[in-house]
Amino acid sequence: MLALGLETSCDETASALVDGEGRILAEKVLSQLDEHRPFGGVVPEVAARAHLEHLDHLIAQTMAEAGVTFQDLDLVAATCGPGLIGGVFVGAMTGKAIALAANKPFVAVNHLEGHALSARLGTGLPFPYLLLLASGGHCQILLVQGVGNYRKLGGTIDDAAGEAFDKTAKLLDLGYPGGPAVEMAALKGDPARFPLPRPMKGRPGCDFSFSGLKTAVRLAVDRNAPLSDQARFDIAASFQEAVADIMADRLCQALSMAPGVGHLVVAGGVAANRALRARLQATADRQGVAFIAPPLSLCTDNGAMIAWAGIERFRLGLTDPLDFAPRPRWPLESLNANVIR
Ligand code: KG4
Ligand code: ZN
Repeated sequence: MLALGLETSCDETASALVDGEGRILAEKVLSQLDEHRPFGGVVPEVAARAHLEHLDHLIAQTMAEAGVTFQDLDLVAATCGPGLIGGVFVGAMTGKAIALAANKPFVAVNHLEGHALSARLGTGLPFPYLLLLASGGHCQILLVQGVGNYRKLGGTIDDAAGEAFDKTAKLLDLGYPGGPAVEMAALKGDPARFPLPRPMKGRPGCDFSFSGLKTAVRLAVDRNAPLSDQARFDIAASFQEAVADIMADRLCQALSMAPGVGHLVVAGGVAANRALRARLQATADRQGVAFIAPPLSLCTDNGAMIAWAGIERFRLGLTDPLDFAPRPRWPLESLNANVIR
């Protein structure tokens, strides 16, 4: 089994070849950080053009590195949403063109399902498991019961977790991209110096809210202006600590809502944060469940998770027609209806 996976839904242009055992034969990820840095965030139009310019070469390099041709593929998988629609179009159309030209099945992959199944890539992790999906556009806790079988236990009622990191980085003038910048700054800071709020902590259910935390960061910045480097580091550390507290609390709640689940998985760009991973590992240990954090390169956007989700769906006979419409919004739970169990 050999799958080509394409990812273009945000600011990473990525392609990868994955086999049926979850081995990554070749993988290319091109970040568009330099293109977006002058704007302090991802500009959809700039992203779409950059995907268009680079995707062909990236695929050619991926194929050459693995020493395979399109004829060797069993399927072509491409992210068809949710995401920035201009970029999604580029990946979806390219994937469809390859599938058509080489006469191979096409799988339209939901980007969130790519993240959700990434923990099974090469690990054989069994269903069900509890998943915290925390990225630039999403923050939700899901019970992953099977391929295309998701139960959302909670989600953010305002900002996504990655968005909160990105906005905090902007307020602190830490540069772009925000998440890794906050993590670096926090390493040099005192997490106890600024008592920031923990919205939703202790509430029933496992929803999230980050907008109040963001406002509190803004107030701390204003009150301490002009910020010294140390104040910047301390606010970053205090913010990260608050996020860790909130996530640990929400996951404990979720575990109580899904008794019998033995694995807690994190995925999405925010799951690349080492401090958060350490905190969630400790939480899982205390709760008596195994903690699974995919390698950092599988947490941020990549083609391998798309190829793998393609393989998982293909094995269930779930391929898609070439007129499948790319979509900016595509809730994970809407996949449930399409799986024959
Ligand atoms: O999953 P992802 O690569 O793209 C989306 O699907 O959104 O996630 C990107 C998000 C950004 O908001 C970024 O700031 C955040 O993940 N992120 C981090 C870290 N690395 C990336 N947040 C906190 N700490 C990090 N080390
Ligand atoms: Zn993502």
